[in-house]
Amino acid sequence: MKRIFIPAAFAAVSLFIANCAAKKTATVAKPVSNGTSLLETAKGIDPNATQAILDMGKQILTTNCARCHGAKDPLKFSAEEWNKDMERMIVKAKMTEDQASPLRLYTKALLKQAGK
Ligand code: HEC
Repeated sequence: MKRIFIPAAFAAVSLFIANCAAKKTATVAKPVSNGTSLLETAKGIDPNATQAILDMGKQILTTNCARCHGAKDPLKFSAEEWNKDMERMIVKAKMTEDQASPLRLYTKALLKQAGK
């Protein structure tokens, strides 16, 4: 009889974990709305910016960068602090330039958009 409860408990725990992860991702790095789109802001940093690059940057922040400690929100830091920590973490996460570059553009655009 006892056996029946194990999968149920496992399912409940998995659901709980999935829920937390979804919430974290949803609240991280919400662009500040100031009338300029994030893409326009990004183009001011790098004229070659595209929505696809920004989407990739966001994906990397909320998956690769969240592996050890959950997704950190760049907007909780000053631009100087964030850039310093991010560069350190790019090394720690053993990222390739193909991953680091969209992450840099995406988070720099978020910070600039927020006036940081
Ligand atoms: C291999 C595990 C690991 C990965 C992957 C990782 N981090 Fe970290 N991160 C840590 C640890 C451990 C700390 C705390 C110790 C420190 O600051 O070095 C930390 C600290 C930080 C901090 C400073 C924390 C604070 O609240 O002051 C930031 C910001 C950060 N990480 C961002 C990132 C970003 C962005 C990425 C993706 C490029 C990333 N991390 C990937 C392990 C990781």
